[in-house]
Amino acid sequence: MTAELTPTFIDQAGFLDLARARRATRSFSNRPVSMAELELLVEAARWAPSPSNRQPWKFLSIADAGLTHQLRDAVAAGCQKLLEKRAGSDARAIEDYLRNFTFFTAAPVLFAVLVRRTHNRLAETDASDIEVEGATMAAGMAMQNLMLAAVANGMVACPMSGPMIARPDLEEILGVSSPWRLMALIPVGWPGPDQPPPPERKRHDLIWTHVPAKE
Ligand SMILES: Cc1cc2nc3c(=O)[nH]c(=O)nc-3n(C[C@H](O)[C@H](O)[C@H](O)COP(=O)(O)O)c2cc1C
Repeated sequence: MTAELTPTFIDQAGFLDLARARRATRSFSNRPVSMAELELLVEAARWAPSPSNRQPWKFLSIADAGLTHQLRDAVAAGCQKLLEKRAGSDARAIEDYLRNFTFFTAAPVLFAVLVRRTHNRLAETDASDIEVEGATMAAGMAMQNLMLAAVANGMVACPMSGPMIARPDLEEILGVSSPWRLMALIPVGWPGPDQPPPPERKRHDLIWTHVPAKE
C-alpha cells in the first residue's frame, strides 16, 4: 500500500480554526465521555513525534470520581502547604493562582500523562539534558494531539501542570513509579457554561524572526 502523502481530510483554514478554537477550559457539563471518544483522543496522541520514535508516554484516563477527588485533596493539601510557607503579602495572589490547580474534578474524565525520561544514550555527557527534554517535549506534543482531537470532536480540555505541586502524593495514589513520572493532568469533557474568551496572543513580529535566503 502506498503511503498517503497529501492529506486531504482537513484544509488549511479548517486546521487553523481547530488550532484557534482550542481553549484551556475549566468548565464542563455533566455529559459523560464514552470509551469510543476516549479511544479517539488516545489514537491522536499516539501519532505524536518522539525522539527516536520511543513514544515515551502513557495515558491513564480516570472516570472514577472517588479517585479524582482523592487527587484533588492531595493537590489542595500541597497548595495549603505552599500558602503556609508564603504567608506574606503575595499570599492572596498565589491563592487565586492555586484555584486553577484543583478544578479538574469538574470534568467527567481526567487524563494523567506519564513520561518516561530515562532512555538516555547521552547520559553522563554534557548533553544529557537533550534526551530528558526531548521526552518531555514529545509527551507535550502527544498532549496537544489529544486536546486537538477533543476539540475536533466538540469536546473541551485543559492541560495542567499546576497539580504537580503534589507530584509524589499523586504518583503514590495512581501507583506511578520509576521509570515513569507523572507529567500533567488533562481534564476532558463537554463544554460547561463558563467558556473562556479567546485570550490575547502575541503578534507574529514579536515572536518570529525570519532569516531569508542569501541572494
Ligand atoms: C504546560 C501547561 C500547563 C498548564 N497548567 C495549567 C494549570 O495547572 N491550571 C490551569 O488552569 N491552566 C493551565 N494551563 C493552561 C494555560 O493557563 C492556558 O493554556 C493559557 O492561559 C492560554 O489559554 P488557552 O490555552 O485557552 O489558549 C497550562 C497550560 C500549559 C501549556
